Amino acid sequence: MGIVYNKEKKTITLHTKHSSYQMKIGNLDYLFHLYYGPSICDADMSYQIRQYDRGFSGNPYESRNERTFSLDAQPQEFSTQQQGDFRTTSIEVVNSDGSYSFGGKAVDVTITGGKYKLNTLPTVFANEGDTVDSLEVILSDPVTKVQVILLYSVFEEADIITRAVKVKNAGDTPIHLKKIMSVCLDFINGSGFDLVSLPGRYGQERQVERQKINHHIHTIGSVRGSSSHQQNPFVILCDHDATEDFGACYGFCLMYSGNFLTEVELDQYDQLRLVMGIHPKQFVYEVKPQEVFEGPEVIMAFTENGFTGLSHLYHDFFRSNLCESKFVSKVQRPVLINSWEAAFMDFDDVKLVNIAKAAKKMGVDLLVMDDGWFGKRDDDNSSLGDWYVNENKIKCGLHKLVEQINDLGMKFGIWFEPEMVSEDSDLYRSHPDWAMQIPGRPAVRSRNQIALDMSRKDVQDYLIEKVNAILDDANIYYVKWDINRSLTDIWSNQLPAERQGEVYHRYILGLYRVMDNIIKTHPDILFEGCSGGGGRYDAAMLHYYPQYWVSDNNHPIDRLKLHYGTSFVYPISTMGAHISDSGRLVPIKTKAVVVMCGTFGYELDATHLSEEEVKICKEQSDLFRKYYHIIFGGDYYRLSNPFEVGNMTAWQHVTKDKSESLLSVVVTNLTCNGPQEYVRAKGLKPDAMYSINGSKELYSGSALMHAGLPIEREVPEYTSFQFYLKKEG
Ligand code: DGJ
Repeated sequence: MGIVYNKEKKTITLHTKHSSYQMKIGNLDYLFHLYYGPSICDADMSYQIRQYDRGFSGNPYESRNERTFSLDAQPQEFSTQQQGDFRTTSIEVVNSDGSYSFGGKAVDVTITGGKYKLNTLPTVFANEGDTVDSLEVILSDPVTKVQVILLYSVFEEADIITRAVKVKNAGDTPIHLKKIMSVCLDFINGSGFDLVSLPGRYGQERQVERQKINHHIHTIGSVRGSSSHQQNPFVILCDHDATEDFGACYGFCLMYSGNFLTEVELDQYDQLRLVMGIHPKQFVYEVKPQEVFEGPEVIMAFTENGFTGLSHLYHDFFRSNLCESKFVSKVQRPVLINSWEAAFMDFDDVKLVNIAKAAKKMGVDLLVMDDGWFGKRDDDNSSLGDWYVNENKIKCGLHKLVEQINDLGMKFGIWFEPEMVSEDSDLYRSHPDWAMQIPGRPAVRSRNQIALDMSRKDVQDYLIEKVNAILDDANIYYVKWDINRSLTDIWSNQLPAERQGEVYHRYILGLYRVMDNIIKTHPDILFEGCSGGGGRYDAAMLHYYPQYWVSDNNHPIDRLKLHYGTSFVYPISTMGAHISDSGRLVPIKTKAVVVMCGTFGYELDATHLSEEEVKICKEQSDLFRKYYHIIFGGDYYRLSNPFEVGNMTAWQHVTKDKSESLLSVVVTNLTCNGPQEYVRAKGLKPDAMYSINGSKELYSGSALMHAGLPIEREVPEYTSFQFYLKKEG
């Protein structure tokens, strides 16, 4: 059983294959966190808690004569408010009398088989054969009757624990939530941790940063209305000396696409608290009597095997329990060519067909018609919202265009940006009130567009109808769903003044409703998410889309960093990657090697390629198909860190049975008369013999892993190598 409730000791222990997590209903029925880390079997970790009379850390009234008991100095499973715990809070609720108190006591514990679900938000799921148990602990405030319901699911084999939170107003007057964190995790001994996060910017998403945790609150979050380019809702807490291969690492991945907050606080007594959830900025949510508010899910993983071990846990779990699309593992993804960097908005049906014809010779399976096909759109100043074909450009109509592409033996894909509207659009002219703007205050423009008020049901219904109509009109195989600005002017004319603090979150709920409908109505379509590159690359988006555009930055050398950072949590199979004209000094073969660590496609004018280039592209497309099962189904290893000074970047994919591997190297820097360099493989069978690129000579797994492969010197800059290792005995 993954969850054990010892009623006598009042401990609840969650067990995965290699980790344990324990909490305890302690003094005065407060819920304490006791442990998260390597398996402890049935140990009772209560002995870890020590109580002292801590000055300026108050005592709950009932224990006023026992001055050693203070919530400020105890590890909490979900911290209270105004009960003497001065660390960052898990909840801020304004009760109907204006007070801010919440002192939740454990009143109920329920253990069930299977995975819990949320009604309003996406969650991971259990597959047939998964051993999953769930726990619900209700914390109730004795005065206000506000309940915080803590949800946990334990995926034993996967070494994953998920958490989510619900707030139920069991009182008889409305309350207002101002902060509600999905997870609160207190480490009783919190010194010696580092924090790893994935900050970035447009064109440079998910760069990796590691910092020592000091005695203050480290804050990571987004207030852009989306999970953003600038930060990612994923962090790692790791041992100060953790490396790729060794050391304790805790991962926290929030399944939410809107404003989020992660706070990590090392307190005065070296206890460490991590909270993660919806960002409290401009968040005030009314919960009426008997209503329930749901917070998003957090996917937690623990390993002692360093960053690689942690990435493997997330990659495996996300490849099986996150997204239901058949393209995750049942149907091979096509090699696509996207029209954006080939033509931007300057195309018509003839040009698209010509690109497709040329791309066919490069081994491409699918043509994507990107931005510019609808309304009267010739540049980015008009037409968002007018989801009907621009017949000045697509003169033959969409149906006929798709037929022509299909006749070439290729599939067809299309671009949308459903959440946005241009002022110069029929939609805006007929429904100006659907755009997110505050009366009397002209809205902030970004790319000269405004966000639609996705919290409105009529807006959601319009988008569902229009997008579904296009998808039903022609044989569409692929959709790219884009969003190209951060949100401002947060206000909805459907809500009264006192409920405007709900709009950020309601936008996301509306978005999920629209996506859910369109995707479920079209289970045979491959969806790819995008936000001006990889601006909303998060687990919730990957619940809907099996792949996400990593970045608008297609420069292959920058891409090495982009894929490296993204791979800390998100699987290679989710990373949208294309060969483009960007990086003119980089040979096309090297570009191909780089984007083979992703979904592999093209984004260039195929009609301009030389015969030689077409030939190379065809070979590379075929190689991608040949190695697909290794790249998409295998284990991924970061062999070097592109953020560190070095002459090459290397990575590797290894099939689960270790019989095949693809080891890739890109020379990023040349040194005159430098030493011979070696790349050490990982994940092979030490006692097996491997051929390299079909060689007669065989090499032992242990030799390749311990001594490494010599990488040819005296090569031109940006040369790449791809070593296909095959177990021969
Ligand atoms: C941003 C995307 O990241 C690009 O790939 C392209 O689709 C443009 N938007 C189109 O406007």
